[in-house]
Amino acid sequence: MKINSLTDSELQDLLATNEFDNELRRQALALRRNFYGNKIFIRGLIEFTNYCHNNCYYCGLRCENKNLVRYRLNTKEILACADKGYALGFRTFVLQGGEDDYFSDEVLVPLIRQLHQQHPDAAITLSIGERSKESYKALFKAGAERYLLRHETANAEHYAQLHPVRQSFAIRQHCLQDLKEIGYVVGSGFMVGSPGQTAATLIEDLRFLQKLNPDMIGIGPFIHHADTPFADMPNGDLQLTLRLIAILRIMFPTALIPATTALATLSPEGRNLGLAYGANVLMPNLTPVMLRKSYSLYDNKASTGLESAEYLEKLKNEMTEQGWKIVVDRGNPVSGVEIISNYQL
Ligand code: 5AD
Ligand code: SF4
Repeated sequence: MKINSLTDSELQDLLATNEFDNELRRQALALRRNFYGNKIFIRGLIEFTNYCHNNCYYCGLRCENKNLVRYRLNTKEILACADKGYALGFRTFVLQGGEDDYFSDEVLVPLIRQLHQQHPDAAITLSIGERSKESYKALFKAGAERYLLRHETANAEHYAQLHPVRQSFAIRQHCLQDLKEIGYVVGSGFMVGSPGQTAATLIEDLRFLQKLNPDMIGIGPFIHHADTPFADMPNGDLQLTLRLIAILRIMFPTALIPATTALATLSPEGRNLGLAYGANVLMPNLTPVMLRKSYSLYDNKASTGLESAEYLEKLKNEMTEQGWKIVVDRGNPVSGVEIISNYQL
């Protein structure tokens, strides 16, 4: 099965059945092993603010959710999280937050500079939503080199079902182009099973990603949150998420694909299954424990078990038992030269 030469209707058939899941998984794992061996890269996640001026219908951090205790870490606290993570063996930090106006470039640029100076061998990844190109440039210059911004859906009508009118599909797409042009290592992605998603919109997502060609692709199931307009919507499907992870691995053999927290929240085996279908990244949480429940993107978000950086040793052991190896490494995407010399199925 050659995923990259499938037509839209063939892809649609593939998505609609579990008949080929074992074959997809086999190919995905072969590619993953080829490029990354049994390595798992870890990213230390610092959820540094849960303020957000946006109002995405699916997310518990939306500004209209008044039931959430809001917090933001100051520069000192963020740097302390990173220090703790560095000592544990993290060489990538993901600074993730809602779109919080407090964190202007005047605040973020010195913070990133300092983090970069303190840990020059660690990669700084930002996941802080839509900003101007000038801002993206300033943050890049300060030392941030990777950026996660999910496109959420590549279909404009579907985007409008997930977001209020003032959040524009065109701007989201534009931001991703800006990030690429500036030279960030870019990550994108989408939720599986978001309300209004269809097989056709999923194919558009895959085609969009083929055009964007990101280095990192994050997908996870949609999980409803009680304090959002989507409280009564069904959660995304585990098996479809796993199938899509395998398809993405085959389409993007060298991509960095996390087994996401949403996957681990949906099922106790979610993390292991994500890795077994081709994911190669885990993102344990470095946020101060008492704040974690407030970073409530969706109900029951896992944050205290093996998602927690405190349990890194336990996580390492569990991964070793399954034949994987968590490494102390920045976890860069492999380069083109390696691809050509290694590629075989
Ligand atoms: N379920 C699953 N994922 C969610 N996200 C936000 N809300 C939810 C939810 N209810 C994801 C979005 C966003 C990322 C930070 O978290 O895709 O880009
Ligand atoms: Fe804000 Fe991101 Fe949640 Fe949307 S998904 S409300 S932008 S934190």
